[in-house]
Amino acid sequence: MKKMIKLLAIAIMALAMNFCGEGKKDSAEDAGAEPENPGKVVYEQYCLTCHGISGEGDGPGGKSLNPKPRNFKSEQFKFGDSLEAVMNTVTNGSPKAPTMVPFKGTLTPEQIKAVSEHVRTLAGKQ
Ligand code: HEC
Repeated sequence: MKKMIKLLAIAIMALAMNFCGEGKKDSAEDAGAEPENPGKVVYEQYCLTCHGISGEGDGPGGKSLNPKPRNFKSEQFKFGDSLEAVMNTVTNGSPKAPTMVPFKGTLTPEQIKAVSEHVRTLAGKQ
C-alpha cells in the first residue's frame, strides 16, 4: 500500500512538472513576439531627443546644450567605447555634463546593456 502511494505521488509530480514545462514554453513564445531590437526601442524613447535618430548628436533636445550630445558616428567617445565603458556612462551619466543624466534609476540593467549595444552599433563599433 505504501508503495502505491509513493508511485501515485511520483505520477502526480511528473504531471505537475510537465504542466510547468508547458507554461514555460508558452511564455518563451510570448517573449518571441517582443520587438526584435530592445536597445533601439529604449534609444528611441530616451536618447533620440538629444543624440538624434541615427546617433549624430543632432536631436532637437540637444541643440542648445553645451557640451553638445555626442555624435556617436563622427566623434571619439570621451569615456571609452567598449561595451562596459558605454554601459558605465549610461548608468552613471557623464562626469562632465549634467545634461547626460545617469539612467540607473530609469532603466533596468538589461535595458542599459541593450541600449549601449545599440549605441555601439550606431557608432560602427560592433
Ligand atoms: C538631455 C540630452 C541627452 C539625453 C536624453 C541623452 N544624452 Fe547622452 N549625452 C548628452 C550630452 C550633452 C553628452 C556629452 C557629455 C560630455 O561631453 O561630457 C552625452 C554623452 C553620451 C555618451 C558619452 C560618449 C562618450 O563620449 O564617451 C553616451 C555613451 C551617451 N550619451 C549615451 C546616451 C544614451 C544611451 C542615452 C539614452 C538612454 C542618452 N545618452 C540620452 C546628452 C543626452
